[in-house]
Amino acid sequence: MAIQRTFVMIKPDGVKRKLIGEIVGRIERKGLRIVAMKMVKIDKTIANKLYEEHLGKSFFNELVEYITSGPVLCMVIEGDEAVKVMRTLIGATDPKDALPGTIRGDLALSKGENVIHASDAEEKAKREMALFFSTNEIIE
Ligand code: PPS
Repeated sequence: MAIQRTFVMIKPDGVKRKLIGEIVGRIERKGLRIVAMKMVKIDKTIANKLYEEHLGKSFFNELVEYITSGPVLCMVIEGDEAVKVMRTLIGATDPKDALPGTIRGDLALSKGENVIHASDAEEKAKREMALFFSTNEIIE
C-alpha cells in the first residue's frame, strides 16, 4: 500500500450547480478519505500560483478569471495511490473525452468549466495543498 494525499478542488461551476454532495459522495464511495475541507473564494494571487505552469498559454487569463469567479471547495484526499485514483475518478480534462462513469464524463461538458481539479503528481499535490491548508488543518 502506498498511502498518498492529494489536493482536490470542486471548481466554481461545480459549486454553483450544487454538485458538491454528488462529487463528495463519489470520492467517499470509492473508499478515499477526506482529511481536510474548506470553501474559499480564490484571489488572483493564489490563482496565479495554482496555475503557474500554464502562465503564457492562450487560456491562462480565462482560467484565472473563471477560478476566481465564485467559491470553490478545497479538499485534501487520502488513500492508497490517491493521486492516480483521484485522476482516474475525475476523468479527462476535456469532458467531451472523459469516459462515462467519471466525474467530468458524467457532469461536465466544457474544457474551461470542467467541475473539478485534482493534482496530477505527488509533488504538485504537496505544493497545491500548501497553498490552501496549513499542516494543523489536515487531520492525521
Ligand atoms: S495543457 O496545456 O495540456 O497542459 O493544459 P490542460 O492540462 O489541458 O489544462 C490545464 C488546466 O487549464 C484548464 N483549461 C482551460 N481553462 C479555460 N479555458 C480553456 N480553454 C482551458 N483549457 C484548459 C483545464 O481545465 C485545466 O485545469 P485543471 O484545474 O488543472 O484541471
